[in-house]
Amino acid sequence: MADNQRGFSSSIGAILAAAGGAVGLGNVWRFPYMLGNNGGGAFLTIYIVFVILIGIPLMMTEFVIGRRSQSNVVGAYRKLGGRHKGWVSLGILGIVAALLIYAFYSVVAGWTLNYIVLSSSGQTSGLLPHEVATVFKDFSQGSLWPLVYQFIFLALTALVVTMGVQKGIEKVSKVLMPLLFILLLVMCVRSLSLDGAAKGLEFLFKPDFSKMTGKGVLEALGQSFFSLSLGMGAMVTYGSYIRKEDKLLKTSTWIAVCDSMVAILAGIVIFPAVFAFGMDPASGPELVYIVLPNVFNSMPMGNIFAIVFFVLLGIAALTSTISLLEILVAFAVEELHWKRGVASAVSSAVVFAIGAFCALSFGPLKEATIFGKTLFDLFDMLTASYIMPIGALLMTIFLGWFYPKAEVRDEITNGGTLKARLFGAYYFLIRYIAPVALIIIIIYGIIG
Ligand code: TRP
Repeated sequence: MADNQRGFSSSIGAILAAAGGAVGLGNVWRFPYMLGNNGGGAFLTIYIVFVILIGIPLMMTEFVIGRRSQSNVVGAYRKLGGRHKGWVSLGILGIVAALLIYAFYSVVAGWTLNYIVLSSSGQTSGLLPHEVATVFKDFSQGSLWPLVYQFIFLALTALVVTMGVQKGIEKVSKVLMPLLFILLLVMCVRSLSLDGAAKGLEFLFKPDFSKMTGKGVLEALGQSFFSLSLGMGAMVTYGSYIRKEDKLLKTSTWIAVCDSMVAILAGIVIFPAVFAFGMDPASGPELVYIVLPNVFNSMPMGNIFAIVFFVLLGIAALTSTISLLEILVAFAVEELHWKRGVASAVSSAVVFAIGAFCALSFGPLKEATIFGKTLFDLFDMLTASYIMPIGALLMTIFLGWFYPKAEVRDEITNGGTLKARLFGAYYFLIRYIAPVALIIIIIYGIIG
């Protein structure tokens, strides 16, 4: 029945697959350290406001572009842009962004495999804190294992994507996403039962706005759309797979709820444990790879929880790498007419060729910097601070100012069959509020 459909077979499949793309290292690795560096509860509050006011409308915008055109990100602007061919470059920007993000994201995804191996073979247990830090540095600065694990992760992703949208992506997401939630809940119970957990909860949930800076507010905005995978066409691609009868507002809201829940649950896992063992919540990107292994070492049965934690981190990363690769594969299949298997093998090979340099950025290529940054940092900064916000801005201009309003309304109301009580609010947000907010982040990225 559903097999003659272009994309996902059910609403729940669409929600879980897109939520899988959104929920990733951004939730479990980036969000906690951002929150830790920006004073806790106030960051969370502002983050949630941005998800509701900017994140959900932007996601709906991408879904409209994708579902209306029934196309990959380049084809979408070719079709909807009509004779204004310039819009196609926005699609190409999406492809470039996917390549760059995948190149550095697959490095950190590979690290999770290493930590699954280390924790299951007990290699981090019983070490002193400085030894745990040494384990991380020795590994990440090496020139072989980071590449091996990155390669394995890319291959695993390619396998799923080759199996297809319904039989690969949707099926895998339907298993992995519920599993991710269960593992997170197990970890929450463990963390909350530690003596001194309350201090961590207070840090996470009690807003102290005096700790909030302008930079923190902008980082919350940036994090909200990094976490929701917005601004580069991931949701255009997945949007094109959403069934015509599904409701876009409902779908986007569910995805945003899942994504924020995972970020908050990750916070409930991490901060009570960090406080209970007297560690520093503001330790930056190393929070997950150095601070947490130390926390696990100090807790009863910590070794088992370490394995659970890194497996869940790996799952979160995998559903995101799947959606990154799908952007490239959908493009190669529809625009270049490649076979799906060939498209996913070739795209992954290209990503590995570029990504290997990112993996080596921590060791052998540490000194090989461009604008004072290693390739890893450069790609991270280029995408998060420039390409994603600029892409998002251009999308809001495309849908809010260029594409006919009646067509937007038609897509959101499923051809007029749904009441569109919130349509006015949505249109106002993407026409005025989101572009202004995005221009502010872009300028901040340039001068800050
Ligand atoms: N949202 C992902 C995360 O939180 C990261 C990400 C950004 C992403 N853009 C993407 C993932 C595009 C897939 C596709 O980890």
